[in-house]
Amino acid sequence: MCGIIGYVGKKECSRFLVDGLKRLEYRGYDSSGIAISRNDQSNFEVRKAEGKIERLEIALRNSPIQGAIGLGHTRWATHGKPNTINAHPHRAGTTVLVHNGIIENFESIREELLARGASIVSETDSELFGHLVEEELKKTATFEEAVRLSFLKLEGSCSIVVVNDRFPGKIVAVRTGTPLVVSRSQKADGCFVASDAQAIVEHTDEVTYLEPRDLVVCTQSEFKIFPIDKKISPENEIKRSATKLDWKMADFDKAGFPHFMLKEIHEQPRAILDTLDLLIERDTMRARMEEIGALVQRASKIQIIACGTAWHAGLVGKYLLESVARVPVEVDLASEYRYRDPVIDEHTLVLAVSQSGETADTLAALREAKRKGAMTAAICNVRGSSMPREVAATLFTAAGPEIGVASTKAFTTQILVFMMLGQFLAHARGVKTKAPDVHFFLQLPHQVQSALELAPLVQKISESCLQSRGYLYIARGRLFPIALEGALKMKEISYVHAEGYPAGELKHGPIAMVESNMTVVVLAPRDELYEKTMSNLQEVKARGGRIVAVGDHDDFSLQKLSDHFIGMRFAHDWSDSILATIPMQLLAYYTAVLKGTDVDKPRNLAKSVTVE
Ligand code: F6R
Repeated sequence: MCGIIGYVGKKECSRFLVDGLKRLEYRGYDSSGIAISRNDQSNFEVRKAEGKIERLEIALRNSPIQGAIGLGHTRWATHGKPNTINAHPHRAGTTVLVHNGIIENFESIREELLARGASIVSETDSELFGHLVEEELKKTATFEEAVRLSFLKLEGSCSIVVVNDRFPGKIVAVRTGTPLVVSRSQKADGCFVASDAQAIVEHTDEVTYLEPRDLVVCTQSEFKIFPIDKKISPENEIKRSATKLDWKMADFDKAGFPHFMLKEIHEQPRAILDTLDLLIERDTMRARMEEIGALVQRASKIQIIACGTAWHAGLVGKYLLESVARVPVEVDLASEYRYRDPVIDEHTLVLAVSQSGETADTLAALREAKRKGAMTAAICNVRGSSMPREVAATLFTAAGPEIGVASTKAFTTQILVFMMLGQFLAHARGVKTKAPDVHFFLQLPHQVQSALELAPLVQKISESCLQSRGYLYIARGRLFPIALEGALKMKEISYVHAEGYPAGELKHGPIAMVESNMTVVVLAPRDELYEKTMSNLQEVKARGGRIVAVGDHDDFSLQKLSDHFIGMRFAHDWSDSILATIPMQLLAYYTAVLKGTDVDKPRNLAKSVTVE
């Protein structure tokens, strides 16, 4: 989950590295650091700081380093406290490195190194790699071969980028699990390596994604890729094609919003429209889903796997797909799925849902399913990321880069993909259904835009509920996952306790928590389950809970029953899940702002969870 950037070229790179790290900060922000060799010939100098990148910038202002080759790192701590000693880059002798991921056999490597007299400074697993390289360099002529042989001693999933005082002008990087991209930039007159293309988007419009077990050697003029399992020699060089980036620099700007999260909430009408453009053939108004459709036709069941917010989208997906396609759908948290020995055969379609396409648990679950013979597919927001490259078919969302750690526009576009898939399958399978016509989806951006106009009202409600002891979110049917999502958003950015429950479950336990200082957020459009939810709400009212209700704009009964009412223009169909999400995101956002938390980078979290 840490962020990595490296540059070797002709230009002064301190700014490149720091700016790149700022764009990678979503991956972790416990500490950061850079290493630069001043004139390409002298030893690498390291600057580090605890906390966010601004602290590193202060350290660099006090003690600048300049040079045209360097590495940068922003950390999400796994081994050892988030302090300066454990911050990267790490130095061992002449070797300097940054690392993302986990070295699983680090205990035994550490003991062996200590027994051989190594002087280990930090508590990290990362530093150990530097000592291994130093040992290898005593026996091996080339730097890249020393890195390769050291890497073969590691277990686990990681990427490491290394430089060495004695081998100027060269960066060597290796990847097993966690992602790395590499690019030669004309503009910056040099080569970049980074854990995410975001870090280098201002210098290049194309990147090459390294595959697991690739090693890359970067110099000012070029990069060469080799397999880690073979000796490095010209005949073993691998040619990999580059991927064009379709991002704009504006995607990485707050565009006047105080936070990326608020910007991204407001981008949802655009994200939905762009996703529709990807999914609908405008001439024929047919959904472009043949590939995945063919897999579903062969499937006797679908298993959706995902984590966090993407899992909530998967839960909505289950409602949608089962109700129309009549295929049994299971939804699993990827971290559970990979260890529960699920029943999988060649008629099982495993569908991963992921914004980043890199989440370690989802990837591992996907690989496990593939190993057991399942067909695999993905819903993903990042082209070129690992999941789309490993599955038979991918439906892309076009949410654009999501910078705020809390997922917003990726979630609603994932639901949109499930809606479209349900509609496509209903037609393909000839199932008689209430599924709306494709034209209906084109109204969604406008509906979401209207929902966003509720922001000032939701802001006021957030203020009124600010002293709540906790929040209970309740709903039924396909809105139940939206209750879960509302609670997750509230927890992760405002650090307040929040739970999502199916409304019918309240009386089986959680209602015991209801009292005047507990806010109960209910999602109750006038759908087929409305009356049931209203009864549950009466039970809350009788116990003095503070009710925030999201319902139809003309539902005066619900309005009367609630302390705060958010009236929406629901269409009473599948789009309710998307529309009801908007006030959930806003409620969490404004509560977090009022509590003064770091909305875009909430504590202890990182955006792309590439460790298990
Ligand atoms: C919550 C959030 C996380 C992610 C989860 C999966 O706001 O962002 O729960 O949804 O870590 O990430 P992806 O979708 O990248 O696989």
